[in-house]
Amino acid sequence: MLSATDLANPEVANLVPYEPGKPIDDVARELGLEPGSIIKLASNENPIGPSPKALEAIRNTLPSLHFYPDGAGYHLRNGIAGVFGLELKNVVLGNGSNEIIELAYHSFTRPGQHEIVTSENAFAVYELMAQLFGVGCTKVKEKDGFHQDLDAILAAITPKTRLVFVASPNNPTGTRIPNDALDRFLDALPDHVVAVIDEAYYEFLDNPPDTLRAVREGKKVILMRTFSKIQGLAGLRIGYALTTTEISGLLERSRQPFNTNMLAQAAALAALQDTEHQKKTKEMTDAGRLRLQEAFTRMGRKFVPSEANFVLVEVGDAASVFKKLQAKGIIVRSMVSYRLPAWIRVSIGTPAQLDLFLAELPGALPTA
Ligand SMILES: Cc1ncc(COP(=O)(O)O)c(C=O)c1O
Repeated sequence: MLSATDLANPEVANLVPYEPGKPIDDVARELGLEPGSIIKLASNENPIGPSPKALEAIRNTLPSLHFYPDGAGYHLRNGIAGVFGLELKNVVLGNGSNEIIELAYHSFTRPGQHEIVTSENAFAVYELMAQLFGVGCTKVKEKDGFHQDLDAILAAITPKTRLVFVASPNNPTGTRIPNDALDRFLDALPDHVVAVIDEAYYEFLDNPPDTLRAVREGKKVILMRTFSKIQGLAGLRIGYALTTTEISGLLERSRQPFNTNMLAQAAALAALQDTEHQKKTKEMTDAGRLRLQEAFTRMGRKFVPSEANFVLVEVGDAASVFKKLQAKGIIVRSMVSYRLPAWIRVSIGTPAQLDLFLAELPGALPTA
């Protein structure tokens, strides 16, 4: 008898699912701990929470929940376009920016025919989606300690390549691409590829690049942004693409009619306008990053200097350090699934959360 797996699309059946940061509730259940006593530094969320203005927008929207959301996302797309000096048609909303990745595959790749190019330690979802879509994935070696090598990426493009994924800052490495290198890369792209520039952590950058120039100039580029990070709305699943009107039309064709929900649209618009909340988050992140990196230096731990709201640090045995910290109610991200089994990634928490983490880390490290 055939099993359901025999009938399944082999791309799906063989997929190793994405391993997200462990939820607080799971750890509480497994270890019999109070959820309130657990801190999560595993998914690069905003530790000070969502913007109060976003919460107010959600409360104001609640009585309308019996209606479908605006499938075209008029108010939010207009608001985003206004912030960036673009037109509504340059903006595509996604159920998290993860959905934008999926829409790009839907719109630009065909199974068995096309390939994508990305970096060896790029955000895992690019490769995962390639597998799911039956598309080849070339991962290019990095240089100088976890830095993406844009020249090597350009050199790896073949006639079959349709999408190129570059994240700046990248997750899990936290490294950014220098502005001039990114400019040169965008100018050098061959005609037959679409570049996806993942800017999930863009708002944490000092001296951010003017990647919008490429959109204004009509290049084949998709800039991905999200409300999950600096705006603290990860739970609502809302992100967006900034792109040319031609590409946005193609991405729009691939999405479900109501891919983003009403609460997310309202909250995101309010959060976008709450620059005070973003500023506060960036200041806390900058201070926390400096503190973590200085502490790792004092401890003689190798780490990757970060430009985002997390730091990748070498601990010897990530699986065991993850477990020991978890037993103390601290959830970090083991990098075993990223094929970096000696490293953990720590999101920058509040000062009090970092106090706890730094107090417990030495006891969790392997004894020499
Ligand atoms: C580099 C990068 N891109 C995209 C995402 C997806 O974020 P979301 O789907 O929450 O917008 C993440 C999430 O961690 C990320 O780190």
